[in-house]
Amino acid sequence: MSEFEKKVRDTLANPKNQGEMQDADSVGTVGSPDCGDMLRMWLKFTEKDGKKVIDKASFQSFGCQTAIAVASMATEMLKGKTAEEASNLNAEELSADLGALPPMKIHCGQLVEGALKNALGSNPENSESTNNTESSPTLAQSISQQNKPSGTIKIVKLDD
Ligand code: FES
Repeated sequence: MSEFEKKVRDTLANPKNQGEMQDADSVGTVGSPDCGDMLRMWLKFTEKDGKKVIDKASFQSFGCQTAIAVASMATEMLKGKTAEEASNLNAEELSADLGALPPMKIHCGQLVEGALKNALGSNPENSESTNNTESSPTLAQSISQQNKPSGTIKIVKLDD
C-alpha cells in the first residue's frame, strides 16, 4: 500500500465533519463531470476579533474515498479562516495533508474545492449555491432530482 493509500485509509477510519449541518449559513454542491460523484459542503460563520471567520464546516459525499478523505481534512483546515482566505485555497492545498494526489485522483480534490467555492458563492456558474439552506434538498434528493446523465452513485463502505 502506498503512503497516499495509507493516509486515505487512516483518514477514513475516523472521518471528520461528515453529515448535514442544520444551522449552516451557506451550502454548496458540486458534481464531478469526470466520475459523476457529488459532494456538498456546509459552512457556518462566526465573528472573531472583528472578522467573520468559518466556525465550522461539514460535508456529505456520494463520492470516492479520496474525495471523502480530502473533504474531511479540508473541513478541519477551514476553521478560523475568513471567506476570502478559504476561497483562495486550491485543491492541492486542501488535500496537502494527504500528499500529492495520484493523477487519477486529482479531480477528487477538485470536487472538494468546487463545493467549497460554491458554498462561498465565488463560483456563480454553479447555480446551486444558496444561502438559504432550509430549502436545500438533501444530497440524495438532489441526486435523484437531477437525473444525472452519466456516472454511477458509489456508496463508500468505510470497512473495505
Ligand atoms: Fe470521483 Fe474521486 S471524486 S473518483
